[in-house]
Amino acid sequence: MSSTQDWHLPTRRPRRLRRSDAIRRLVRETRLTPDRLVLPQFIVDGRRRCEPIDAMPGRNRLSIDLTIEECARAMELGVRSFAIFPAIDGSLKTPEATEALNPENLDCRAAAAIKEAFPESCVITDVALDPFSSLGHDGLISDSGVILNDETVEVLAKMAVVHAGAGADMVAPSDMMDGRVGAIRSALDEAGHTETAILSYTAKYASAFYGPFREALDSAPVDAPNVPKDKKTYQMDPANAREASIEALLDEDEGADIMMVKPALPYLDVIARLRAETALPIAAYNVSGEYAMIKAAAQRGWLDERQCMTEVLTAIARAGADIIFTYAALDYARWWREEVGRALPDV
Ligand code: PBG
Repeated sequence: MSSTQDWHLPTRRPRRLRRSDAIRRLVRETRLTPDRLVLPQFIVDGRRRCEPIDAMPGRNRLSIDLTIEECARAMELGVRSFAIFPAIDGSLKTPEATEALNPENLDCRAAAAIKEAFPESCVITDVALDPFSSLGHDGLISDSGVILNDETVEVLAKMAVVHAGAGADMVAPSDMMDGRVGAIRSALDEAGHTETAILSYTAKYASAFYGPFREALDSAPVDAPNVPKDKKTYQMDPANAREASIEALLDEDEGADIMMVKPALPYLDVIARLRAETALPIAAYNVSGEYAMIKAAAQRGWLDERQCMTEVLTAIARAGADIIFTYAALDYARWWREEVGRALPDV
């Protein structure tokens, strides 16, 4: 047993800087402002259409007119970047995903409408075939059930040019085919879209957390002969981190402007790794399942939504993400506004 004589009063006391809210704010290392958030939007055809997404409470599939109204609310709150995902009518889906290249498709009309209403916004389009594919994969599939890399990349490059033509500020290849960033860069430049940026889904994992998103777009791989049941031959194995460095080297070399890690919370180590390895901005996608977990627990009264969502988003920023894609962007921006108000002394 040690006696009290052996007890030395500590001279180093980290708690000194935790004593008051004022001091904690002085030494706070991470501040996540709403201008670092991207709001993903699910778009449907039609007018005044608002379809709630069951597994994503608070999020809806919206027609373009209602999307514009939501963008207006976001802009007002300081969230000015939007990632758009079209929920394509089943009748327009084919195995070759041909609708993806139609310059008048839902995706392009939405991008153009948002840019027209808010020229100062940043519109990011998704480059992958799944919303348009009747088979539910990001790439083309051979008769024997192989996801065809190079054939898919050709289509993706054309798709990116179509999006740039519609006014997208950034195109975001989310497909994980090899060589697509380089092919997209050349195609964009050849078409004169030298200013269109590429936000690459650099380390996108074969994650089960995409479930609610696939429900929202009805885009899950279909159950049919010679159609792979999952996306594991192109999305990364959740067990791998070094492999993310290889993807990052390739993407940077091929001309990516921003590199993204997805999902976010289970992959904070990967975010930190890429942050340390590149000078490019790093984005992270706090995906549908991550959002649904907090929402579901909060609905049951098991978690405090505001505190947990804030903690998660702050942690993603702390790990090294400059940009965060989150379905909670509007909520967070409202909380931020309140928080800033609270920090100001009464005058
Ligand atoms: C598909 C795509 C997915 C997401 C974004 N783009 C799903 C998938 O790869 O199956 C998921 C986003 C989310 O879950 O929030 N190209």
